Amino acid sequence: MGKLDFLAELGIETENAGGYAKEWCGSGSLLESFAPADESVIASVRQCDAGDYENIMANAAKAFACWRLEPAPARGEVVRQLGNEFRKHKVALGKLIAWEMGKIQAEGEGEVQEMIDIADFAVGLSRQLYGKTMHSERPGHRMYEQWHPLGTVGVITAFNFPGAVWAWNAMIAAVCGDVMVWKPSSKTPLTAVAIQKIVNDVLEPLEWNGVMSLLVGSSRDVGELLIHDRRVPLVSATGSCHMGRKVGEAVAKRLGRSLLELGGNNGIIAMDDADPGMVLRAVLFGAVGTTGQRCTSTRRLFLHRDIASDITGRLVKAYGQVKVGNPLDPDTLMGPMVDGSAVETYSAALETIREQGGEVLCGGNVLDQTGHYVEPTIVKAKPGMEIVGDETFAPILYLFEFDSLEDAIAMHNSVDQGLSSSIFTRDMQSVERFLSAAGSDCGIANVNIGTSGAEIGGAFGGEKDTGGGREAGSDSWKAYMRRQTNTLNWSDELPLAQGIQFGD
Ligand code: UN1
Repeated sequence: MGKLDFLAELGIETENAGGYAKEWCGSGSLLESFAPADESVIASVRQCDAGDYENIMANAAKAFACWRLEPAPARGEVVRQLGNEFRKHKVALGKLIAWEMGKIQAEGEGEVQEMIDIADFAVGLSRQLYGKTMHSERPGHRMYEQWHPLGTVGVITAFNFPGAVWAWNAMIAAVCGDVMVWKPSSKTPLTAVAIQKIVNDVLEPLEWNGVMSLLVGSSRDVGELLIHDRRVPLVSATGSCHMGRKVGEAVAKRLGRSLLELGGNNGIIAMDDADPGMVLRAVLFGAVGTTGQRCTSTRRLFLHRDIASDITGRLVKAYGQVKVGNPLDPDTLMGPMVDGSAVETYSAALETIREQGGEVLCGGNVLDQTGHYVEPTIVKAKPGMEIVGDETFAPILYLFEFDSLEDAIAMHNSVDQGLSSSIFTRDMQSVERFLSAAGSDCGIANVNIGTSGAEIGGAFGGEKDTGGGREAGSDSWKAYMRRQTNTLNWSDELPLAQGIQFGD
């Protein structure tokens, strides 16, 4: 198939499998990037060491000194050019994401579309970084607030969205006037190199190098430096709750800010009046899509008792037809898991599920072939099964039955994570109850659509152990700026607030 043609299209030179990705200029050890589809080495990337880290931070600070003074709409113009480049490379980059991470090509291209969309959003935003004005209580005074950039933003991303999550942060932070240093997952370094190359092609001719930099390296070597670095006022991190706790603690200790987008344990509630076809489609995309490795993946399905056996039967049948295989094959619906350790997590979870009394209705096996392939799995949950509280990052779906919406909401909210949720119903009261303050406790609550596949225009993130951060659309940009309140006296007097007379 001219298998790795997309690498050449992205301008990444690799001599052979195992060749050296020349665009990367770190001076540390080599990191191999593997294709989960056949376990081959795609290329090796030279990682950053502590010296590279210092150079990157110094360049970022130098770039910030000028970038912060560039008018926001002019920064938006740079982001517009980035969006155009992402458009040009959508297919090739989508293929690389699929090949390096394992999601199917349609989803890989969908991810690049998110990058394009957030760039467009940020361009508009660059003219809308509004501050409020307020009436002063003193005569001849004006009060208002304005938003200034923060400085160097550290962006830590996970393997499952190796491009889009960086873009949510980078496009918004860029129009806000920040510069950013990106530490991608060590499982997807090549996608990061390809994206950085696109970024460099835009930024270098404009002499804006240093506005967006790449820091490939392990958490131990460079991640630790980044989270403890007082020169980094904001660290935006996506990944597991475990990782988020570490980042949150380190950043809080130095009184920096963190924006955390961590684990989900997302549930769909299907009421007795739900459209079964729609439920089926939503569950399939949510639980099987991205091989169950989205933070928004559907992990729990709550079925009203009257429709439970019908929907379960349809689901088991549909799961039987899911084609698992090469992510670049157009017939494939579910690609491999990202690596061997993800497969081990899947197997260990199934062992625990069986121990805890879960009934595996379909799937449950690792496929005996080269590549990290597993079967999509449905488990009838036993009430009180502890493993249901964990986010197992794999295509395992737990089924529950309920009699009343109140019970379903209570079960739904009983886990530690609070990212995404949805209800399927035609009944207005059920909808409003689910969306009320006594309803879903998640950052995202949907009606008649699934838990995954959020649009970039909304604020993205969740509550409880999900970390509380909000990225992408709405007013998430405020996390990337500092607010300044200005009170300006244009009178000839110096009246004090609260009417205080002092030494008069
Ligand atoms: C993630 O898995 O970290 O809503 C992000 C979604 C995607 C983003 C997921 N737009 O499923």
